Amino acid sequence: MNDDTALAQAQSFARLKAHTDRIGPVYGTEDWSMFLYALVKMQTPLAVVELGTGLGATALWVAQAMKEVGVGRIWTIDSGQDWPAILGHSPDLFTQAQRGMDFAGYMADIVAGFGLQDHLEFIGRTMPPYPVLGQKLDWLFSDFRHGPNDILEILGHFMPRMADSSSIFIDSASTSFPSYALLELLTAQLNAGKVPGMLLRTTAPDQHEALWQQVRRSRYTLMHMVERKARVQNSTAWLKIEPADLRPYPTAPFH
Ligand SMILES: C[S@@+](CC[C@H](N)C(=O)[O-])C[C@H]1O[C@@H](n2cnc3c(N)ncnc32)[C@H](O)[C@@H]1O
Repeated sequence: MNDDTALAQAQSFARLKAHTDRIGPVYGTEDWSMFLYALVKMQTPLAVVELGTGLGATALWVAQAMKEVGVGRIWTIDSGQDWPAILGHSPDLFTQAQRGMDFAGYMADIVAGFGLQDHLEFIGRTMPPYPVLGQKLDWLFSDFRHGPNDILEILGHFMPRMADSSSIFIDSASTSFPSYALLELLTAQLNAGKVPGMLLRTTAPDQHEALWQQVRRSRYTLMHMVERKARVQNSTAWLKIEPADLRPYPTAPFH
């Protein structure tokens, strides 16, 4: 990369950082989104789904990293239900023009403003039902519900649709005891080659075989990423799916 390209990239980075430092605290994702930015640059996921866009902090940083590496797409889904209340309590976060927009308009405005149209697609709708994209997913980031039943529904839908080497991030689950305990129990059973009945019941019958195959062929690692910050919902559970093998994934040559 020459100096001019590096400088242009650093300027885009600084502009986005200033933006998400301003809007990120509304949902507490200003640091998380940068963690994912770095992870995209390291792992180059091709297909990412985010459930719950918020004000776009995470989707923007994932897309920015994808733009820098030259591949990848994030689909982010939100009903826009929080938008009127946010405009009401924090109008200063937005431009005069944005204040007159609906949520889809706001998303289109910021995606175009940061030049991320090739990597970020906003889908305005209420969930469930959860989306089905015609390809396996490398990452799922669920950031709108984190109760045990919600987690089972989300995993039942998405687990059979994940790539062989993939990651599922569930916001706030690690700091809610029922959700934390569910994920711990679930991961232990999956690694023992079992699909718990409660998970099978949230999986569509035509996806059962894909789920069984994944469980037979994979190992699962659960990591609780907890922030040392005095605010609620300050965690993300990271469930990593990898092919059962004698090497770590995504693959890199041994040295
Ligand atoms: C915590 S915020 C997402 C934050 C975002 N991921 C970020 O990076 O800042 C949760 C979002 O979920 C959306 N939401 C809540 N319930 C929903 C539903 N049933 N269907 C679709 N979106 C929903 C809300 O509108 C809100 O924007």
